[in-house]
Amino acid sequence: MEQQTNNKGLLVISFGTSVAATRPRTLQAVEDALRDAFPERRFYRAWTSTVLRRKLEREEGQKVFSSEEALEQMALDGVTDVLVQPTHLLPGEEFRITEEAVRAFAGRFSSLKMGRPLLSEEADVASLATALEAAWPMPEGEMLALMGHGSAEMTFPVYTLLEARLKEDGFLRGCVGTVEFDPGIEPVLERVQREKPRRVHLAPLLLVAGDHAVNDMAGDEPDSWKSQIAREGAEPICHLVGLGENEAVRALYVLHARAAAPVNGEALP
Ligand code: CO
Repeated sequence: MEQQTNNKGLLVISFGTSVAATRPRTLQAVEDALRDAFPERRFYRAWTSTVLRRKLEREEGQKVFSSEEALEQMALDGVTDVLVQPTHLLPGEEFRITEEAVRAFAGRFSSLKMGRPLLSEEADVASLATALEAAWPMPEGEMLALMGHGSAEMTFPVYTLLEARLKEDGFLRGCVGTVEFDPGIEPVLERVQREKPRRVHLAPLLLVAGDHAVNDMAGDEPDSWKSQIAREGAEPICHLVGLGENEAVRALYVLHARAAAPVNGEALP
């Protein structure tokens, strides 16, 4: 009798990070939450950044698949039912590239489904706002400045919506800027100049407290967020804590994986 093999797979696709210390608490924590939610599926991991995959192999002797390599391996392993969950934060350029890579495999599996990024609709932003408010209670005279990444393709105004939502919830001491693209650190500096907080808590609005958090946010260079806040006369306090460390954030990824939609071969508009 032929042995019954497990033909269901789960692929978690991340950008990747070179900061090894953050991985167990962030990327792997999200992966583990998804593995636990889908114990019947064989687990696969992919990183989209070629630079980071090479670095990991060179410096730590670890091989991680690209999206394409992982999907090829799943096909080779006899997986026919594939669930893909990206750990991207928003539907920007990186997500679009990942979606296209996955789309190319439509027809190779009897079922291919993919979940949306963490922040894909207003309800997601509301969930994140609630999680942030609980994680970062701000006393009078202190402010929370979140460092988002930014994207060349902002089809969904995540940062504006998040700030509006925090305000609506009465969490008045939070603001959001970006490390790349618009609006940059400007909204944060403007708030600091206007409200003159005694302390500004800096935290990444990023899945991992990786290179951007360590250097662009908390680095000693004069253009880091820490240095720029200090020049405004406030005391900067850096928190190297990625969003992946937040249980509510991990739960939101699981929710998105459960709501995954079939991927078909149609080209994107
Ligand atoms: Co970047």
